[in-house]
Amino acid sequence: MRFDHRHLLGIAPLRPDEIVTILDLADQYARFNRGRDKHANALAGLTQINMFFENSTRTQASFELAGKRLGADVMNMSLQASSIKKGETLIDTAMTLNAMHPDLLVVRHPHSGAVELLSQKVNCAVLNAGDGRQEHPTQALLDALTIRRAKGRLHRLNIAICGDIAHSRVARSNILLLHKMENRIRLVGPPTLMPSGIQDFGVEVYDTMEEGLRDVDVVMMLRLQKERMDGGFIPSEREYFHRYGLDAEKLSYAKPDAIVMHPGPMNRGVEIDGTLADDINRSVIQDQVEMGVAVRMAAMDLLARNLRARPTEVMA
Ligand code: NCD
Repeated sequence: MRFDHRHLLGIAPLRPDEIVTILDLADQYARFNRGRDKHANALAGLTQINMFFENSTRTQASFELAGKRLGADVMNMSLQASSIKKGETLIDTAMTLNAMHPDLLVVRHPHSGAVELLSQKVNCAVLNAGDGRQEHPTQALLDALTIRRAKGRLHRLNIAICGDIAHSRVARSNILLLHKMENRIRLVGPPTLMPSGIQDFGVEVYDTMEEGLRDVDVVMMLRLQKERMDGGFIPSEREYFHRYGLDAEKLSYAKPDAIVMHPGPMNRGVEIDGTLADDINRSVIQDQVEMGVAVRMAAMDLLARNLRARPTEVMA
């Protein structure tokens, strides 16, 4: 089992065999999490700090639970309210925390590249919990595990990623991962929500759901990231739902056993019909949440093994 990284900053630096290593270990943790005794020791003695510079409910809760189930001491910091407002920079905050000797730092930040910058300044392992529009590696990994469990494989599948691609780090990390694992990826959405230079990603681009969903195995919906928009991207939410919102009729273009995914939080009635999102015969949205905890346990376990293999830096 090889995983040669100090940090988990994105999918881009990972090899396919390392992705498989994380998913295989996460599968074991998924089984463990369904048992009665949910306490293990892989992170015992280690301190995990969750630094969220952007609102998050599920990702933060998922990392917190993952750390606690593995025996870490976990601390949560929501930073938009505290010292950031006082003008302290990202690096100042990181250095302050670094002086408290954390072992794992889980960071979400609204600016692309901020988490990587921070990783260069601290002595601990850094996990990217979402940076701007760039990467959200644990989301792509939990999506991959959900797909692998539902479809029995993670290669040669037709996968449609639909909606607000331009503002989405989830889309970017998923494209990188699914491409590395040799799937066929389609991006479906209005041209205003497609990033520029999308042709270089090795994907097919469609602007209607009817064409884009034809015969796909997986339909991955994305949230309309209204907070990242400054107007003019969509005519109206009603019109958007009519053209791009996933409902039973549009899903009928896909394969009869196609699964429906969404990273949450959902805008029901905007990008997805609420009844379909709750239909456990088609929707694996709750499985995604479940796999999220397992994947984060696996990622932190692997990083901790690498941490423990390094000599401790003892201060004189
Ligand atoms: C995603 C995110 O924050 O990038 N959500 C999440 O991790 N639960 C997707 C989104 O906000 O739409």
